[in-house]
Amino acid sequence: MSAKEPIMLLEKVSKSYGTRDSESLTRVLTEIDLEVYERESMAIIGPSGSGKSTLLNIMGALDTATDGSVRIAGQYLNKSDEEELSDFRRRVVGFIFQSHHLLPQLSVMENVLVPLLATSKSDGMAEAEERGRKLLKRVGLDHRIDHKPGQLSGGERQRVAVVRALINKPKILLADEPTGALDRTSSENLGQLLMELNHEENITLVTVTHSMELAQSMATVLELEDGHLHTCEES
Ligand SMILES: Nc1ncnc2c1ncn2[C@@H]1O[C@H](COP(=O)(O)OP(=O)(O)O)[C@@H](O)[C@H]1O
Ligand SMILES: [Mg+2]
Repeated sequence: MSAKEPIMLLEKVSKSYGTRDSESLTRVLTEIDLEVYERESMAIIGPSGSGKSTLLNIMGALDTATDGSVRIAGQYLNKSDEEELSDFRRRVVGFIFQSHHLLPQLSVMENVLVPLLATSKSDGMAEAEERGRKLLKRVGLDHRIDHKPGQLSGGERQRVAVVRALINKPKILLADEPTGALDRTSSENLGQLLMELNHEENITLVTVTHSMELAQSMATVLELEDGHLHTCEES
């Protein structure tokens, strides 16, 4: 028997919107069981509205399950209070969205350091800036450090968002349609970058995507359909 524990363990996770006894109850996820192991790369595909973002948000403590148990990096999110959850969001996970959500008035470096503003201690700032510099160089943006997001291409902005997501050294990177707003070449580059960072940074990667190309570059592909998660046949 392997002693290795999954870094993410979801057991019978269900999610509904609306009140339980109202007619407007929408059941999005139905008793999802999922194990994700450290350094795994996983894609979740599925039709629009199938609950992919909801599932990813539950993994990242941006949303809560209606029922079931969610254990991520040893922490039971369904039993955590607000303070523990915000600490979890800061420390354990990094997020990338379809839209980069960079602040237009800040420079690339300032945007990368934004997650540190949420922490009370400022003593790690010089270290974080050094890490930011290294990561920006790693993603080919060392010459863009003082630029504003408006001066960058879509693909470059998304790479800044990736660096921002990694600045606090999260164990897990959660990406929701990260290539959804990019042209083909930029999508391919971003997909490749995510896979490389998955190895280099020893990071667990879960990405939601419409792109079969991006999905198939991941080690595991799962499909969400009618509230259930199953192994994708074509992968
Ligand atoms: N805050 C919310 N309130 C009510 N319904 C929601 C809310 N968020 C999502 N939904 C519904 O849940 C379903 C799944 O949404 P979502 O997770 O965004 O799907 P996907 O990311 O796969 O497109 C959709 O039917 C959506 O309308
Ligand atoms: Mg979505």
